[in-house]
Amino acid sequence: MKDRVYISDISKHADQEVKIQGWLYNKRSSGKLWFLQVRDGSGIIQAVVFKGDVSEEIFQRCEKLTQESSIVVTGKVSEDKRAPSGFELQMKDIQIMHLAEEYPISPKEHGSTFLMDHRHLWLRSSKQNAILKIRHEVVRACREFFDSQGFVLIDAPIFTPNACEGTTTLFETDYFGSKAYLTQSGQLYMEAGAMAFGKVYCFGPTFRAEKSKTRRHLTEFWMIEPEVAFLDLDGDMDLAEDFIIYIVQRVLENRRAELELIERDIAPLQKVTKPFPRISYDEAVAILKKKNIEFEYGSDFGAPDETVISGEFDKPLLVHRYPARIKAFYMKSDPEQPDKALCVDMLAPEGYGEIIGGGQREDDLETLEKKIKEHDLPKEAFEWFLDLRRYGSVPHSGFGLGIERAVTWICGLNHLRETIPFPRLMNRLNP
Ligand code: 4AD
Ligand code: MG
Repeated sequence: MKDRVYISDISKHADQEVKIQGWLYNKRSSGKLWFLQVRDGSGIIQAVVFKGDVSEEIFQRCEKLTQESSIVVTGKVSEDKRAPSGFELQMKDIQIMHLAEEYPISPKEHGSTFLMDHRHLWLRSSKQNAILKIRHEVVRACREFFDSQGFVLIDAPIFTPNACEGTTTLFETDYFGSKAYLTQSGQLYMEAGAMAFGKVYCFGPTFRAEKSKTRRHLTEFWMIEPEVAFLDLDGDMDLAEDFIIYIVQRVLENRRAELELIERDIAPLQKVTKPFPRISYDEAVAILKKKNIEFEYGSDFGAPDETVISGEFDKPLLVHRYPARIKAFYMKSDPEQPDKALCVDMLAPEGYGEIIGGGQREDDLETLEKKIKEHDLPKEAFEWFLDLRRYGSVPHSGFGLGIERAVTWICGLNHLRETIPFPRLMNRLNP
């Protein structure tokens, strides 16, 4: 008798007797037969039992088994070409560890509010399982990409004394009698890191008090942010391009079954190859004009604008040189057109909009001081950041990828809330 086996490893145990520990996902019977769908987190397998093959007691256990009861199933692994895993289990014995109460999530349809209220249970469903495994693959690919290129992981603090991405979306907390904010981005700290280590990245949760209920805004999301010394905007775009290609490739290689399970059309993902188109803000505005879309030159693109612009291309699109006025204080102005920032947004194809924001940073002390003033930010809180321009300032660039936005696109979902285990939205803090 073999010890416990995970369903994901079942192919290594063909014709052997194994023990599976898991939960009942679903069941059906046809008189003398029970078909039990057993899940153990790593996969789902069908266990089949014939009335005559086991004792009456064991057969009755199958009968009383409720959805999500925890069970230990023993049986022989046999090949079955029709089964999703290629195998099924000829059940010999079943132990019920806990008979579940009536499970609130039945195989029938439920509304998204109900499912989100039961997120702690909904995670068990095969679709949510697949999405979060793809998220894991994306995170792993992000880390491997930077780790394999000599980047040093530098963790940024969560409590911060200053704003990085504007003061309108700050979460304020009391910090022993003074004010602290939950970080909006690790970028400013990565700039310090880049001057110390050359190339660095951080990966962690970031917070924005987004007062909008959209399908692409969380109040707590995870961002991976590289920062590189002696890198200009073009180099930054090259890095972002290689990075996204690497991530998509890795998901296609390692999570093909999960993409299939969620019925993602992979043809658009297979087109994610070099080079990505690169257009300026002005060129992007021209696309909107050509399509007769009302747009005020100089303002930021809304989600529908981004959909139209990226709809012209079948690969991720790099849009650079937005008006400096609508961008963050730390961005370097383009010397050739000072009203534009040396920044870049990457828009995902298929209408998914911005997944990356970044660019070249202002490296001149006086200019940066002026910008902090223009943006009405408290200079004292940025003195440490200004030091980076006082002691060996160099051109440097970086960007941030929002993990949930990237996973939403890669999975082809229409709302980002399913790409994070426990989403935090303006109207959701539970469970
Ligand atoms: O464009 P953003 O605001 O850029 C920054 O924070 C820079 N400091 C990053 C850097 O250069 N190091 O945010 C970067 C990315 C966006 O492109 C988007 O993918 C994601 O973070 N993002 C959000 N994702 C989910 N919910 C939100 N509310 C998000 N806000 C930004
Ligand atoms: Mg942005």
